[in-house]
Amino acid sequence: VTFLCLPPVSFLLLPHALALWACTRSCPSRCTCTQEKSCSVLCDRINMADLPKEFPCEASSINLDKNNLKFLSERAFGTLPSLKSLSLDHNNISFITPGAFKGLPNLVELKMAHNEYIRYLHTRTFTSLKRLVRLDLSDCNLFSMPDRIFIEQTALKELLCFQNNFRRVPGAIRGMENLTHVYLERNRIEAVAYNSLLGLTSLKYLNLQENRINVIHDEAFKDLQQLENFYLNDNLLAELPKQAFKGLSRLKMLNLGGNLLTNVSKTWFSDLVELEVLYLDRNQLCFIEEGAFENLTSLITLHLNSNNLTALPFSVFQPIYFIGRLYLFRNPWECDCSLEWLKEWMENYKLVRDIPCASPSSVAGLDLSEVVYARLNGTCVDPAELNLTTALPDNPTTENKFNILISKLLQQELKEDLVNSTESFRNGTLLDPAESQVSGGYNGFSTGRALLVLLSMYLIQAETGPH
Ligand SMILES: *[C@@H]1O[C@H](CO)[C@@H](O)[C@H](O)[C@H]1NC(C)=O
Ligand SMILES: *[C@@H]1O[C@H](CO)[C@@H](O)[C@H](O)[C@H]1NC(C)=O
Ligand SMILES: *[C@@H]1O[C@H](CO)[C@@H](O)[C@H](O)[C@H]1NC(C)=O
Ligand SMILES: *[C@@H]1O[C@H](CO)[C@@H](O)[C@H](O)[C@H]1NC(C)=O
Ligand SMILES: *[C@@H]1O[C@H](CO)[C@@H](O)[C@H](O)[C@H]1NC(C)=O
Ligand SMILES: *[C@@H]1O[C@H](CO)[C@@H](O)[C@H](O)[C@H]1NC(C)=O
Ligand SMILES: *[C@@H]1O[C@H](CO)[C@@H](O)[C@H](O)[C@H]1NC(C)=O
Ligand SMILES: *[C@@H]1O[C@H](CO)[C@@H](O)[C@H](O)[C@H]1NC(C)=O
Ligand SMILES: *[C@@H]1O[C@H](CO)[C@@H](O)[C@H](O)[C@H]1NC(C)=O
Repeated sequence: VTFLCLPPVSFLLLPHALALWACTRSCPSRCTCTQEKSCSVLCDRINMADLPKEFPCEASSINLDKNNLKFLSERAFGTLPSLKSLSLDHNNISFITPGAFKGLPNLVELKMAHNEYIRYLHTRTFTSLKRLVRLDLSDCNLFSMPDRIFIEQTALKELLCFQNNFRRVPGAIRGMENLTHVYLERNRIEAVAYNSLLGLTSLKYLNLQENRINVIHDEAFKDLQQLENFYLNDNLLAELPKQAFKGLSRLKMLNLGGNLLTNVSKTWFSDLVELEVLYLDRNQLCFIEEGAFENLTSLITLHLNSNNLTALPFSVFQPIYFIGRLYLFRNPWECDCSLEWLKEWMENYKLVRDIPCASPSSVAGLDLSEVVYARLNGTCVDPAELNLTTALPDNPTTENKFNILISKLLQQELKEDLVNSTESFRNGTLLDPAESQVSGGYNGFSTGRALLVLLSMYLIQAETGPH
């Protein structure tokens, strides 16, 4: 027996009881049908292997998650003019007949994530879904998608395709001017070509993290003028085009962490006047060009931790009146006088902490906050480079004797430190500094060390100061 849907106008006049009756009268067996604001059909987790012959024709949402569906035939759901949301997550769908979703003219959301046997889709898979706004095809083992698969999905805004096997950005999204969110993380994409993202003029969110991107062509992002959140982290980028982010003046968050970048070019971020958060952590940065952060006038947080930085010239930060947080831990800082400005800034603004010194050797292992800069006639004196293996010279000067004393004390202390506290923030790469702050991961300023520093200052002054 086939029931005909009542014409929508009569629905307005139906009391709740009648709507409930309409929703439940043809509820599939073992499913639950409820009428709240609209008719929902819940058929999840009931080990269903074949679709029911019939759903209530007033159904507005159908949940078929976590069943054992394998196959969707043509018009698999019949005609459901009110259906807005259909969820088929976590089934075992391996074949979708072209036209499977015919009869669902008002479907807005279609979820088919975690169906690992789908692998390939036919060009006409989504035929007649003209109102589709959100489509989830994540974790479906897809290798590619036909270029014309979304030809009718002009309203599509959100496409979720993370955790598949794409080797390139699917050509199907090119020119989709209504797309706002694209999730392509955890695929195998190797390059972003100049035309991969053409015409995505409404895109606000693009996630390409955890791919294998090693090349980005010039102007690859030039149409993404509305982009606000951009994840490019955990790829294989050693270089970026000079004008990579040109024109992305709406960008608020850019994540370039976990790549192989060595230099930060001053041209990359020139246009990012609304950028609030920039991640450059977990690269191999050795060098930041002067002016690189010059135009980042909205920046709140900058992550430079876990790189190979030894120096951070004051001029690199000018003229930013940097108001947020700066993460610098896990870099081999050279704490000579060129970092004195940072120590002062750190003390004055308390926006940065954990700056471990790797050199000069007399301060290696200390945090920049613990380094005391000596002044000779008003100018800063670099901490000494110690030769820890030097034997006592024949005619030792006070300073030499002192250095040997320090090196012994330091070595002693370093040994203790390594076992104890420094491990917590040398290990791993993702330790959140905010967390280490709270949990006391801060490498404490030991009394012995404080004395050592004071002593060293005193002796240096005694040795070199005016008599
Ligand atoms: C899922 O489908 C695949 C291929 O169609 C089949 O080999 C596998 O056994 C199925 N798994 C379950 C749990 O039914
Ligand atoms: C974007 O949406 C508008 C209005 O819904 C529609 O007219 C237009 O064709 C869509 N654009 C594309 C490229 O699908
Ligand atoms: C990085 O900067 C250094 C110092 O200016 C320069 O010698 C080197 O060629 C740069 N490397 C790249 C890949 O741009
Ligand atoms: C900063 O922006 C100004 C004005 O748009 C531009 O002239 C300048 O080159 C930019 N600075 C850098 C380092 O790109
Ligand atoms: C950065 O440091 C790591 C570990 O110390 C080293 O393996 C790597 O070669 C360095 N990279 C550069 C560009 O210096
Ligand atoms: C210290 O500074 C004064 C004035 O600048 C200068 O005359 C003097 O030679 C300096 N002394 C040393 C030891 O550098
Ligand atoms: C450190 O001292 C040892 C032994 O005196 C010497 O062989 C070595 O060259 C010195 N190293 C430096 C960097 O001065
Ligand atoms: C840590 O430091 C304390 C005191 O400095 C010491 O007694 C202890 O043996 C160190 N090692 C470990 C593994 O805790
Ligand atoms: C350091 O990392 C290794 C491997 O990632 C892990 O086994 C070890 O427990 C870590 N140590 C600390 C102190 O977090």
